[in-house]
Amino acid sequence: MNLLHPSSWKNYELLDSGNFEKLERFGKVTLIRPEPQAIWEPVLSESEWIKQAYAHFTREQKDHYRFGEEVKGGWNKLKPTQDHWQIEYQYQTLNLNLRLALTGFGHVGLFPEQGSNWNFIYDTITSWKTKKSRVLNLFAYTGAASVVARAAGAEVTHVDASRPGLNWANQNMQLNQLSDIRWVYEDALKFVKREVKRGNKYNGIIMDPPPYGRGPEGEKWTLQEKLNELIQLSSQLLEPTPSFFILSMYAAGLSSLVGLNVVRTHFPHVAPTSGELFLKSKTGRDLPMGTFLRFNR
Ligand SMILES: C[S@@+](CC[C@H](N)C(=O)[O-])C[C@H]1O[C@@H](n2cnc3c(N)ncnc32)[C@H](O)[C@@H]1O
Repeated sequence: MNLLHPSSWKNYELLDSGNFEKLERFGKVTLIRPEPQAIWEPVLSESEWIKQAYAHFTREQKDHYRFGEEVKGGWNKLKPTQDHWQIEYQYQTLNLNLRLALTGFGHVGLFPEQGSNWNFIYDTITSWKTKKSRVLNLFAYTGAASVVARAAGAEVTHVDASRPGLNWANQNMQLNQLSDIRWVYEDALKFVKREVKRGNKYNGIIMDPPPYGRGPEGEKWTLQEKLNELIQLSSQLLEPTPSFFILSMYAAGLSSLVGLNVVRTHFPHVAPTSGELFLKSKTGRDLPMGTFLRFNR
């Protein structure tokens, strides 16, 4: 069981957490957001949080946060703050610019814990001598991983069921002076089934499925029911070599052993690295952020 945290961030910091909330710095903007797993007491005082924060997202629901539930609520601005801004991420020769914004669900368009997977994607693709590698990013959201794979030289197919998410990903691609990412507005499982029928192959598959989701035509995605089938199909899409595979699972409340057993079933000859993703905290209360599993061959 490995513990992995994104050690390359200069422009993101987890400053403190507790009382079901987290205090985070995203570039020049510090935010307070809900965090279901932060059941401990914060280290810094409430007044210190308020002093540092620009905006505070408060949930409508008064009861305790349940894993995977859709958070509803609103932002309360504590200081004059733009609704959207940019953040930089550097790693080796990668200089990534990403657009952030205060969204209605308390999201900002970025999962900072994914930084260590971005490094893995960049290192793996740039180490390949293959001129034209192909990468498939499922549940790809605002496209940080898609932009990293494209910046590393791969052809990228980006699949998500959210139009605003696809538009945001397109903005992120342009922010990095890149082009030609293939945008697919579709249910991930449906897309993968069709790719298998077509006999298409990829050198890299990235998936970060939510516990629940809906495809554009109402297709129901439930991680626990559908993950096995999705990975079985993905094993038919992934080239033997050179190739890589990344699975992240957040808010599903499932152990990383679950992902390991499913992957071992359909990729019997690989030795994946797996475990927990976490965010290192300035106040020492490190924050768990789901599980990861990855391999390259
Ligand atoms: C947790 S986010 C993924 C985060 C992303 N991997 C990242 O690191 O930026 C889950 C994404 O899954 C998408 N989604 C939910 N249900 C889906 C489905 N059935 N098919 C495709 N995408 C879906 C959502 O629109 C959302 O963008």
